[in-house]
Amino acid sequence: MSIDYKKEGKIAIFTINNPEALNAFSPEAAKELSKALMDFRDDDGLWVGILTGAGEKAFCAGADIKSMLPFYKDNTYTGWKKPASIYRGMELWKPVIAAVNGLCLGGGMEIALACDFRIAAEKAQFGFPEAKLGVVPGMGGTQRLPRLVPFGKAAEMMFTGDSIDAQEAYRIGMVNKVVPLPELMPTTMKIAERICQAGPLAVRAIKQAMYQGMDVALEQGLQLESFLLAYAFDSEDFDEGIKAFTERRKPDFKAK
Ligand code: CAA
Repeated sequence: MSIDYKKEGKIAIFTINNPEALNAFSPEAAKELSKALMDFRDDDGLWVGILTGAGEKAFCAGADIKSMLPFYKDNTYTGWKKPASIYRGMELWKPVIAAVNGLCLGGGMEIALACDFRIAAEKAQFGFPEAKLGVVPGMGGTQRLPRLVPFGKAAEMMFTGDSIDAQEAYRIGMVNKVVPLPELMPTTMKIAERICQAGPLAVRAIKQAMYQGMDVALEQGLQLESFLLAYAFDSEDFDEGIKAFTERRKPDFKAK
């Protein structure tokens, strides 16, 4: 197995598992991740996902140079042959957090950037070495990085291929928190559990409004927000949220 997929209550945990090759991302891993993500998307009992890497050294050292890059080369213009995933081609409005446990390079960076936010271990390193290989980031890096950090910082990272450490990633807003490695999963789980306390349909609507709103004019974004607000008003969870507030108790949301 290249991807371990487990469910803990309402939380799904995806682990890229190829530590001998620093969790390099193979075509097999891409297929398995796609399948697991679709199960997560369609399982009503799962509300938040966490993506991490096996072992202590790497989150993911990028596309597997020996197998993934040739596969990408052979399928350059046949996007449909590449499995839909978090970084391309899949609509997934449930939140996903990256728990970056170590080296996060190339395709690994692109997977982490496709998550909604990132928590990093102290020794994590972030970089796009693609240009050093004479290739272009091909899983969304050139699009997502400049949308997340200052353009010049993104340009420097991608033109030089040089990595930055976790503190620098925190300073430029690429990661939300830096913690010692043993605290990485407990910290990320705690945040995921906090999200599970909120109305799950509202969280999904907020995510959809944020992503789809980012690329349109403000007026269109506001219309989208109104549409999603109406959708939330129509849910049983909204009724429960208001009832729980007036009864001074915790809401019991059902994702309905
Ligand atoms: N693909 C395939 N194998 C990889 C790999 C990768 N991306 N990264 C590491 N490995 C393998 C190494 O080949 C090595 O395997 P062997 O023991 O069988 O030789 C094993 O993992 C351990 O790696 P190193 O011995 O190199 O470990 P190190 O600590 O000396 O160096 C490193 C670590 C600097 C990250 C180095 O491994 C490295 O430069 N890796 C390549 C990183 C890279 O260029 N990633 C981008 C890939 S391209 C991409 O991702 C394109 C895209 O967007 C689609």
